[in-house]
Amino acid sequence: MDAELTRSLATAADLLARAQAVAVLTGAGVSAESGISTFRDAQTGLWSHFDPQQLASQSGFAANPGLVWRWYMHRLAAVEAATPNPGHLALAALERQTPHFTLITQNVDDLHERAGSTRTLHLHGHIARFFCNTCQAPYTLHPDDRTAPMPPECKFCTGYIRPGVVWFGELLPEREMWAAWQAADTCDLFLVIGTSGVVYPASQLPVRARRHGAPIIEVNPEPSELSVMADICLRGPSGVVLPQLLMAIRGR
Ligand code: OAD
Repeated sequence: MDAELTRSLATAADLLARAQAVAVLTGAGVSAESGISTFRDAQTGLWSHFDPQQLASQSGFAANPGLVWRWYMHRLAAVEAATPNPGHLALAALERQTPHFTLITQNVDDLHERAGSTRTLHLHGHIARFFCNTCQAPYTLHPDDRTAPMPPECKFCTGYIRPGVVWFGELLPEREMWAAWQAADTCDLFLVIGTSGVVYPASQLPVRARRHGAPIIEVNPEPSELSVMADICLRGPSGVVLPQLLMAIRGR
């Protein structure tokens, strides 16, 4: 481990050990080591093969519901086959040792929950939940739906069934967003992990935390849009850095 990372880990561990209220924002990077592609990786990112507007928007769904359905079924299978990595596990452990801990995620997978996190806010929904795009009635996925060429139809109104994720141009879930603002406004430390920080309003959460004086710690192998406001940047994959951080807290 290089000397700068060791120093930064020690400072971050001190801040975390003293913090009473910690808010965390995670993005696709935290699930990358579980084998789920991030969104904006030039080589392997999901959207290097597809047009995001086509896959994650009302207009795209209207234009090609079969393509959108098949893509989400592919994504769902990848999420179900994945297992939490040491980064997810370290965050669950951090929750257990922090008096007030809120984990805000932009991820639509359930790897944080499977790792043991209990106070999780999903700003962009859940890939394994479904509802009717027309009447919003909830829908339970049937095994045949997974290989179907088209989305299933709603039994109440014959509208198409869609995944419970937030698409471009749609509003974020109000209750989760409100709770996320609250956590950002009241935390005494904010962690930004594995996100490029380019998608609003999630990207504003650390700005809000910073405004009332909470230090910001970033964990990301690469600089992001949010790096400029970070007090400490831990440059490395979250599956490596977060367990190191946990050890540094325990070794104080
Ligand atoms: P991005 O794909 O934009 O960014 C992933 C970030 O993870 C990048 O900054 C990478 O450097 C970093 N990263 C890669 N591997 C990592 C690792 N092992 N450990 C830590 N960090 C790593 O994904 P998001 O920021 O999550 O929204 O994207 C935000 C939103 O954009 C998504 O939730 C999605 C998309 O629009 C919706 O679908 C509504």
